[in-house]
Amino acid sequence: MGSEKEGLAIAVPVGRWSQAISSVRKVKAKARNGGPRNAASCYFPKKMTGNHPEARSATIVPRIGILGAGRTRQGLGPFLAQWFQKSGAHIAGIAGRDRSRTDVAAVAMSEQLGHAVAAYDNADDLAQHVDALVVACPVEGHLAGLDAALAAGVPCLCEKPLVAPAAMDEALRAVQAFRDAGLMLVENCQWPFTLSAWRELYPEQTGQPVRSVAMRLSPAAPGRLMIEDSLSHVISLLQALVPLPPHAQVQSVVQSDASPAAENNVVRFEVTGGTDNVAVELHLQCCPQQPRPAWYAVNGRRLDRQLGTNYEISFRSEDGRVANVQDPLSMLVYGFVANLKRIQLERPHALRALDAIELRLRLYAGVLNCL
Ligand SMILES: NC(=O)c1ccc[n+]([C@@H]2O[C@H](COP(=O)([O-])OP(=O)(O)OC[C@H]3O[C@@H](n4cnc5c(N)ncnc54)[C@H](OP(=O)(O)O)[C@@H]3O)[C@@H](O)[C@H]2O)c1
Repeated sequence: MGSEKEGLAIAVPVGRWSQAISSVRKVKAKARNGGPRNAASCYFPKKMTGNHPEARSATIVPRIGILGAGRTRQGLGPFLAQWFQKSGAHIAGIAGRDRSRTDVAAVAMSEQLGHAVAAYDNADDLAQHVDALVVACPVEGHLAGLDAALAAGVPCLCEKPLVAPAAMDEALRAVQAFRDAGLMLVENCQWPFTLSAWRELYPEQTGQPVRSVAMRLSPAAPGRLMIEDSLSHVISLLQALVPLPPHAQVQSVVQSDASPAAENNVVRFEVTGGTDNVAVELHLQCCPQQPRPAWYAVNGRRLDRQLGTNYEISFRSEDGRVANVQDPLSMLVYGFVANLKRIQLERPHALRALDAIELRLRLYAGVLNCL
């Protein structure tokens, strides 16, 4: 994490989230109108110190909008909404691709959360009325969500993969725009939050160089879609385990079954550019029903995910030992909200997060382009 001294730079009315957001928007609007483009000069709200009286007493409830709040297939909107509320944020509104279905989803979400949730016509309208935007819709709608967050000058949590492979250039442009605007962008790759289980089950691995990462996931759709849907997860695990440089690349990409209807496939590749090459394997097998089998292995030490009746999550080592973890989705959302509530983005941390998203996009495209 960066030091406080490295954090910068515009003064925010302490304890007033909406005013802080409006400060960011004003500075951003200034930049759009020819103001400074260098992120080092502006945008990142000044950090509240732990000793500041208002930092201790302020009750900040960020208003969250969700684009794609329902669940037609695998969408996580209702679960994200639940964790945002538990994290101390307020789901204020939603939008979708069809206004009548958005109205239905808004009623369902109001009942789920116990308070009114407004329905908006589109992503832009929604983003203008909230303090942060969650993009939970299918990947085809992600770019519109990212652009809406940028236009409104609000932080964004976007589902994986950040965009469809065909929109990679636009995605890189959007990431740069978040960087320029000093706005937080998080991609919902939650698996790294389970690595506490790997450390608990294989403590002898601590400090050992990581030479291989393998993962088994069970997507619903077969063929290439299965890979596009799952690839971000194994790349995010790799990034959490290995400090990869920005120029890291993929090589030697192969898959076991390239047929469009393949229900089983193994994608193998190497990631180069770090101290050592890392061998990555993504094992995929269609499984439309829950609970979907999932495991990962680091340096060949494998842990299998287990789901309890109330979605309690644990991992089992090959010799039967078990480590419990908190729901990684909840941990990701808590972290996102914590940054919103603190009215701060430590600049080095925020930039590293954007760098990680950018590298993930490049590696994601690098693999898919070879298949
Ligand atoms: N991080 C994870 O582990 C994880 C797990 C599961 C899914 N996901 C990701 O979550 C995202 C959504 O999953 P899904 O594709 O299965 O979603 P889905 O359930 O088909 O749809 C989710 C919601 O989005 C709405 N929607 C559909 N198209 C839209 C559009 N173009 N613009 C705005 N809203 C739209 C749907 O409304 P209507 O259909 O009623 O219009 C529904 O309310 C995907 O990116 C997927 O990869 C991530």
